[in-house]
Amino acid sequence: MNSNRSRIAFLISGRGSNMKAILNQINKGKLKVDPVLVFSDNREAMGLKIAQKYKIATYSFHPKEYSTINHYENELVKLLKENKVEWIICAGYMRILRDTVIDAYHNHILNIHPSLLPAFPGLKAQKQALEYGVKVSGCTVHLVDKGVDTGPIIMQTAVPVKKKDNVDDLSKRILKAEHDTYWRAIDKVVKGIEIKDRIVY
Ligand code: GRF
Repeated sequence: MNSNRSRIAFLISGRGSNMKAILNQINKGKLKVDPVLVFSDNREAMGLKIAQKYKIATYSFHPKEYSTINHYENELVKLLKENKVEWIICAGYMRILRDTVIDAYHNHILNIHPSLLPAFPGLKAQKQALEYGVKVSGCTVHLVDKGVDTGPIIMQTAVPVKKKDNVDDLSKRILKAEHDTYWRAIDKVVKGIEIKDRIVY
């Protein structure tokens, strides 16, 4: 642990391959941040096992265990604040964050989305891209605001859509780009960004 480094936490729901790619860059010394904890709303998430291998504290609870979504998010914010988390990294966290978390971490929440936003927000972005017939797609790292995939864009990487691609082919190509984009976007924000009229500098 290095006390000068930004403290980050991951929110995941599933396999955690983006989280793993980021942890690898941290271990290689290319990304200088402290991964403090991993939270999942799904106790069975594969990503929790990966986090444990990297010796990172893991936590899991589910909204159903709370009377309201607000109570659930209050508990999550409490956990993050107790651990002095500065940046929240959503990496396949399959829930829309509500006001409680967004207000507590204004402009300090990142998400990665498997399309070139503002094209194809929401679920099944790769399928949407194929069905629309775009020839280029990719991934976007953005700040999380109160809309769905609408926050200021930090970084994007384009990948080609090939003639015979199915959803799986395109998803794999985009995921590879995600793994090389997310850590660079985190590096950019922790070094300092400015946001003017939704443009990130
Ligand atoms: C990625 O495709 C990401 O763009 C989306 O959810 C998926 C998460 O994959 N938000 P993983 O859990 O990081 O492997």
